[in-house]
Amino acid sequence: SFPQRIFSGIQPTGTLHLGNYFGAVQTWSALQNKGEDVIFCIVDLHSITIKQKHKDLKENIQLMAASLLACGIDPQKSILFQQSQVPEHTQLAWVLTCLCTVNRLNHMPTYVEKCAELKQSPTGLFLYPVLQAADILLYKATHIPAGLDQIHNINLANHLTQLFNNKFDKIFPIPQLLPQDESAGKVKSLKDPSKKMSKSDLDSNSKIEITDPPEVIVRKCKKALTDCTSAVTYDPENRPAVSNLITLHALCTNQLPQDICTQVKHLNTGQYKLLLADVLVEKFKPIRDEIEYLMKSKEHLEKVLLDGSIRAQAIAVETWDEVKSKIGF
Ligand code: ADP
Ligand code: NA
Repeated sequence: SFPQRIFSGIQPTGTLHLGNYFGAVQTWSALQNKGEDVIFCIVDLHSITIKQKHKDLKENIQLMAASLLACGIDPQKSILFQQSQVPEHTQLAWVLTCLCTVNRLNHMPTYVEKCAELKQSPTGLFLYPVLQAADILLYKATHIPAGLDQIHNINLANHLTQLFNNKFDKIFPIPQLLPQDESAGKVKSLKDPSKKMSKSDLDSNSKIEITDPPEVIVRKCKKALTDCTSAVTYDPENRPAVSNLITLHALCTNQLPQDICTQVKHLNTGQYKLLLADVLVEKFKPIRDEIEYLMKSKEHLEKVLLDGSIRAQAIAVETWDEVKSKIGF
């Protein structure tokens, strides 16, 4: 019986998009505000598994910190920190690497997908889910709030925990994905609803970022894929693109998709996209303003991350000491 602790990470690879917001960050701040023991990590080590513009990385880390703060993450109520400032992450990852078979990693769906896009894939990309498992185990986290895209990675963390516990000693809780409301867990690309909305999607029209100015939100909504039926109806199976738009609307206004369809039954999909744009602009305006304000004070952001990293490391060191003694180091 381990105390409940919540851990989640996010890569500093660009601004938060609506999938990150509804699939992860909104839930994080809700958990924090319920008084849960919560740790949030900006996973910069994970972000360099794919090509980065290194001259922008620091700025992107600060932008992610500002974005999380603007979305309600409160460093007084949670630990918000930067992964690379706590070296125990890579140390524990190495130990887990030694428990994990190559075969298991070869079959991780995200790896298979990313490999298909690249000519040569770096070993870091292969080991990505092992590092993620280390992030979780280091804090003995019991629950991981994340989108459904993370299910395979959490299953691997689960598997590695059991291997460690069986081989050495039962020092780690078995981490579980904290499931979200189904629609929030899977926000789709605006250009191709068979794909999730993703930071790494090169088509900027596929995603709306929480810092997009109103005119950009309007433009992206106008360009969003629909189908040849003009009525606005919610049918995720047969009309995935239109249904994804209604889902976003429903997430913004806390309504049921069906109720939205009733309200907009006089609109065609083209007109509906403009209404959705208005809803999104209004929902994210305060957050966008706050990010802009926070980004004016980089020292403050750096201090928030440093304070958080010190608190995170205090926990990480304890776990690492325990791991070392079990292994025989
Ligand atoms: P991305 O895949 O966009 O690079 P990350 O891998 O940094 O995003 O994931 C950050 C968090 O956002 C994770 O909890 C992930 O599950 C969630 N997330 C990412 N994309 C989506 C999406 N399209 N729908 C719901 N949640 C998502
Ligand atoms: Na991802």
